Amino acid sequence: MDVRTFTVGPIAENCYLLRRDDSDRALIVDPGDEAERILRPVEEMGLTVEAILVTHCHFDHIGAVAPVAEWTGAPVYCPQIEAPVLADIMSWVPGPYGPFDSYDADETVGGGETLELAGLEVDVVFTPGHSPGHVTYSVRNEEALFSGDVLFQGSVGRVDLPGGDWGTLLNSIRTLVDGHSPETVVYPGHMGITTLGAERASNPFLAELAS
Ligand SMILES: [Fe+2]
Repeated sequence: MDVRTFTVGPIAENCYLLRRDDSDRALIVDPGDEAERILRPVEEMGLTVEAILVTHCHFDHIGAVAPVAEWTGAPVYCPQIEAPVLADIMSWVPGPYGPFDSYDADETVGGGETLELAGLEVDVVFTPGHSPGHVTYSVRNEEALFSGDVLFQGSVGRVDLPGGDWGTLLNSIRTLVDGHSPETVVYPGHMGITTLGAERASNPFLAELAS
């Protein structure tokens, strides 16, 4: 699997462009800002974007959904509970950020679905706690998680925003750890790429999981 990372916008959010090996079909996860940077390699490599996957609807993850969807024509998959935020984005954007264009999700997900897109099988896992509808996209046979703001290298998603809850987040992390091998690569919404095993071993926020 070929995965390219774009760290975009004022909150340094990680957007990912992924495809199976050298396929000309691709997926985009969490286009948060800077649409033109994300789309440049799509255009240069002549890729067809088959879907845009949204982990959750904090503005730093969805700010460029509308322009990327418009340019690629790809359907947008959004957590069902949070689709109203994507559809009315500026009502939820704090302070000086934006402006961003709203977008009506083409498909909604809640967890438990398996999406067949761009030659990949993608399991949708419900991982609330950082936000109420948050999902993680698990690429089958590739041991890869696109996990938004659930788990970071040495840290975890904040739980002090509306709908956040520590116990719920910990349960979500437990679901990911129990359901995947330690070698599984975690492509998070912020900061560096890591593995489930590395975080299980050294992430201080996961100490509760060890007991
Ligand atoms: Fe977030």
